Amino acid sequence: MADDARLERLQGMLRQRGVLLPAFDLYGGAKGLYDFGPVGGRLRSKINQAWLNHWTSLGNVVEVSSPTVTPYEVLEASGHVGEFSDFMTQCGECDEASRADTLLEPHHPNPDSLNGEDLQALLDDVSPKCPACGVVSWSPIEAQNLMFSTTIGAGSSGRPGFMRPETAQGMFTMFPALYRHFREQLPFGAIQVGKGYRNEISPRQGMIRLREFNMAEMEYFIDPSIQESHDFSKWDSTLMELLDGEGEVHTLSLTHAISSGLIRHQTVGFFMGKTYDFLLELGIDSQKVRFRQHAPDEMAHYASDCWDVELHGSYGWIECVGIAHRGCYDLEAHEKASGRTLRARREFLEPKIMEIDGWTIDGGVAGPAFRGDAGQVKELVESLDLETEFPVDVVLNDGRTLTVESQHVKRVQKTVKETGEWFIPHVVEPAFGIDRILWHVLDHAYDESEKGGEPYRMLKLSSLVAPIDVVILPLFEKNGMDEIASELHKRCCMIPNLVSMYDASGSIGKRYARADEIGVPLCITVDHQSLEDNTVTMRKRDDGSQVRISIDELPFL
Ligand code: ATP
Ligand code: GLY
Repeated sequence: MADDARLERLQGMLRQRGVLLPAFDLYGGAKGLYDFGPVGGRLRSKINQAWLNHWTSLGNVVEVSSPTVTPYEVLEASGHVGEFSDFMTQCGECDEASRADTLLEPHHPNPDSLNGEDLQALLDDVSPKCPACGVVSWSPIEAQNLMFSTTIGAGSSGRPGFMRPETAQGMFTMFPALYRHFREQLPFGAIQVGKGYRNEISPRQGMIRLREFNMAEMEYFIDPSIQESHDFSKWDSTLMELLDGEGEVHTLSLTHAISSGLIRHQTVGFFMGKTYDFLLELGIDSQKVRFRQHAPDEMAHYASDCWDVELHGSYGWIECVGIAHRGCYDLEAHEKASGRTLRARREFLEPKIMEIDGWTIDGGVAGPAFRGDAGQVKELVESLDLETEFPVDVVLNDGRTLTVESQHVKRVQKTVKETGEWFIPHVVEPAFGIDRILWHVLDHAYDESEKGGEPYRMLKLSSLVAPIDVVILPLFEKNGMDEIASELHKRCCMIPNLVSMYDASGSIGKRYARADEIGVPLCITVDHQSLEDNTVTMRKRDDGSQVRISIDELPFL
């Protein structure tokens, strides 16, 4: 760890000043759950809003919101019921559960990429001590699904469900509405910010590993047959640190990384650039950003290529964003499981003439026989070989099997003109962990110095995210200074998107120091002279400089 003492001071300050606090502290707290306090609440919502604005500015991206409670079938289809797990082992002495890959991090360059057997062999080989009690006594490694399960509804009509582990699935299941909204034209994106839930095995690193956390994800739907093309010139002179799947470091511009094939998909590369810009806008230090490509055996079950954006801070390098090419994995899976079509249409440049010689259903017989399933049976029959002998069993999308007899079908021979075809769009997904980003914004903004021989602490937050824009301070709460100050505070509160705080408690120096600790860019002090000429002092946080200015000329009024 970079500097434990600095980290403790920062965490203490954030707790004391109402930025981040352990949740349910009254009851002893609960691991992996945090409160955003009276200052942190707005910091989080400003980051969320900046994120939404950043992506909607692309012009073909809309904000949506889907439920956090999700039916079992949805997450079974997406692969989360079967695959969304981490390997766990438990200490035989103190019962503390640990993630096997985390325990083995000091002994392997990328333990996340190991399967259960390899993790077990390495655990047996290196025998790490339990981080809680120091004893070496581990239970056999087992896969632990990370989803919180719940029941939707009461009594015997209750259906199993989960708290969503990602916001993404709600956007895939909403695809038909998105496709209609965008007048059936790809590419387009859906974005949402909201809570995600993962019953993490051992949430040990503050805001980095939470059990309820804030996600911001975009699902960007594209036609895979169209050559992707994005303008990278904006980043031509920005050298980025890129670690490939083998861990080799490349320092390249995005343009170069695309042309050399290191980044395989233009859309993935473009979103890497947009993510870099967003992080810098929030105040993230450009020297503490790097991109890391997943090794093939590390990739999530749905991904065909994935780059993490890692930020460096008090916990070392931490993944804060994952940019994954999900191919057609999700839409195809939901199509199969739901029996509904999740496709887009592409028109051919020239109509195609096709000779058809095969089978179709005989509507007069098959219609009454298969009723609501007749449409699906027709599609299945039309995909059968000419040599097929009937009766034959066909399997519907929902897994039921139907027997198609010879009287249900007829041979069809015709020439057709096709003007286009239906296909399953591919998806590129940037998935942001807002809590991890927010943590690094604070970590990078935290500045320690000395004033008058005493330690002095400050958050040099960019005004885009500073939770409080201005503090109004009456030098004394008497002789009318308090009235001018509270009048000014009220005026500020009427201004949309401006948050003002009134602080009359303690010496003026202490009040400046408190404002600096929560990153307020401007302090306005009402003093004796204000009573004479309606001027105030305006103090800037970063250099402490002060100017005398008429109230009516304050830049934010
Ligand atoms: P990790 O390997 O650290 O568990 P992950 O690869 O499972 O993370 P993703 O599934 O890609 O993470 O989730 C997308 C983003 O959500 C991550 O980049 C991260 O910023 C954030 N995230 C994931 N899990 C948590 C968590 N438990 N607490 C806070 N943020 C999280
Ligand atoms: N939606 C990406 C993830 O949560 O992993």
